[in-house]
Amino acid sequence: MSQDGVNKGRRTLLVGATSAVGAVGAGFVAVPFLGSWNPSEKAKAAGAPAKVDVSKIEPGAMLTAEWRGKPVYIVHRTEEMVANLPSHNDRLKDPDNSVKTQQPAYADNINRSRKAELLVLLGVCTHLGCAPKYHPEVKAEPFDPKWQGGWFCPCHGSRFDLSGRVFKGSPAAINLEVPPYMYESDSVVVIGVDEEKA
Ligand code: FES
Repeated sequence: MSQDGVNKGRRTLLVGATSAVGAVGAGFVAVPFLGSWNPSEKAKAAGAPAKVDVSKIEPGAMLTAEWRGKPVYIVHRTEEMVANLPSHNDRLKDPDNSVKTQQPAYADNINRSRKAELLVLLGVCTHLGCAPKYHPEVKAEPFDPKWQGGWFCPCHGSRFDLSGRVFKGSPAAINLEVPPYMYESDSVVVIGVDEEKA
């Protein structure tokens, strides 16, 4: 796997990943001899893009990658998940993504993504920074009897839908953030690189 294609020669950190609903294919650490690097090389790697193989994420499942020390949630949404997004717009604080700094222009849509089937979000609650938990099933939950799938933050009860949009009644004020990312190929996403700016 090339490490130099999109970040112009900088070292690329492939990150370990886990799934909240079962093990899926994942990236891996591919930076050898970290201990021998000088401080500037380490700093460069810490800010480097994260290259993630998304081809093995099962429909409906989530993979957690890491970029700049933060979790990045990558969900392979099903057609049903995507089709259901408009159904609860009236229950959301900001269904139309009015806070433009929260997502690149290509994610300023109801799917909040480049491709409808793949959602890429920072897994950082916009209230006080906890990691929201993935609850993809449409079913009544203790925290929401009309739950349509999404994330629940156990710290103070914020709820987000399957586009990362925050529900009314949550202490979080704004939607989960979409980081810059691009497709290196159909199966590889690079987080931290925006091809529209590269
Ligand atoms: S940190 Fe998520 S609800 Fe407070």
